[in-house]
Amino acid sequence: MPERISLAIDGKKLDCPVIAGTEGEKAIDITELRAATGYITMDPGFGNTGSCKSAITYLDGDKGVLRYRGIPIEQLAEKSTFVETAYLLIYGHLPQPKELDVFSSAFNEHSMIHEDMKNFFNAFSSSAHPMAILSAMVCSMSAYYPTMIKENPSKGDIDRIAVQLLSKVRTIAAFSYKKSIGEPFVHPRHDLRYVPNFLNMMFSSPTKSYKIVDEVVQALRVLLILHADHEQNCSTSTVRLVGSSHANLYASISAGICALWGPLHGGANQAVIEMLQEIHADGGKVDKYVARAKDKASGFRLMGFGHRVYKNFDPRARIIKQKADELLNKLGIHDPLLDIAKRLEEAALKDEYFVTRKLYPNVDFYSGIILRTIGIPLRMFPVMFAIGRMPGWIAHWKEMIEDPATKIGRPSQIYTGESKHNYVPIEKR
Ligand code: ACO
Repeated sequence: MPERISLAIDGKKLDCPVIAGTEGEKAIDITELRAATGYITMDPGFGNTGSCKSAITYLDGDKGVLRYRGIPIEQLAEKSTFVETAYLLIYGHLPQPKELDVFSSAFNEHSMIHEDMKNFFNAFSSSAHPMAILSAMVCSMSAYYPTMIKENPSKGDIDRIAVQLLSKVRTIAAFSYKKSIGEPFVHPRHDLRYVPNFLNMMFSSPTKSYKIVDEVVQALRVLLILHADHEQNCSTSTVRLVGSSHANLYASISAGICALWGPLHGGANQAVIEMLQEIHADGGKVDKYVARAKDKASGFRLMGFGHRVYKNFDPRARIIKQKADELLNKLGIHDPLLDIAKRLEEAALKDEYFVTRKLYPNVDFYSGIILRTIGIPLRMFPVMFAIGRMPGWIAHWKEMIEDPATKIGRPSQIYTGESKHNYVPIEKR
């Protein structure tokens, strides 16, 4: 690999350093390009643009590889817990038993939300989308916990906010669901671990207590681990960009939640189920929908298919498909939407349109089946993604803020508007 790459533009020469990652990825450092040549680069969607160096997550889209801090996702999904994976992502190593103990105990300490915040919940209409409530509530934490926000937060400050966010987001998510169905809030319990605690807050009520089923806990645990990070995706890049102005962690994560909401990103899990329901209601005509997805004029896409980075397969989709199968088998449930999803996948993977464009099922294609089976309502699906992605967002914000090389994010543009012309007073127009 060359150490420098020379660019020659308008007779000006620029020697650009080559940056190499630990897995052999290569980048041309063009930091001096504008100053030296007057040119900028154009890369809509940032498909070829690195915005930072990061030691958190590695993925190879061609080979279908995903690792958190070097550990393959398959091993974490099989053996780790969500809380342990969160620790790994945020602190860079698997916790020692004592470290995990302290980290887990802090979850209990921070699981309640400020009493005044409950009034804020009441201000939302019951038809409010839970992602709107979640993003507003997370941002409002900077108002309810102002002492946590500091101009230059210490490591200890960041640790406290991180664990507070991880713990409270689960309570806020469950409360927003209770609000939407008009039931009283169920408070977090100290005797329950992360996933069962969430399920209890969601599904217990004054008249019935939720029965915790191991298979359900396992499936949700895996789902959260698979969503925990995915390097510089749309929402994580948003968290980093907002945080690069030194906006506080709550505000940065709230922005990330909004970015995640869109159907091309974390809203895709909801869109997949809506699509499968539509196909089911239409008699399960899978071929008709594959044909529609190929017809650009239809404006229809196969939701849960395609990925900016994975061009072979999404390793998370493989794990989640297996988990969905296992869960339904163990609970003895037959979901016609799972059958349609499998037929859709089979039809698309044989179709030249999808094969040539390297469009494969992504993590969202089967995750909705699991969430549906657990009883999570459709509108809460992106919220589940947000709970899962929280450790990744925190890890990236922390890495960014602790790196002295970080600059405020500020992309450039090529102006395509009108040339200079004079203002005309309204009576003369
Ligand atoms: N159905 C039909 N055609 C598709 C699909 C799809 N799901 N995805 C991409 N294509 C086509 C495009 O029309 C385009 O065709 P063309 O080359 O003939 O113009 C080609 O494949 C490339 O697509 P782009 O949109 O340029 O790919 P990009 O990398 O920008 O987008 C994305 C990736 C947004 C994920 C896209 O595949 C998509 O919209 N998928 C559906 C939504 C979805 O599942 N999102 C979740 C992503 S995973 C996540 O966020 C966790």
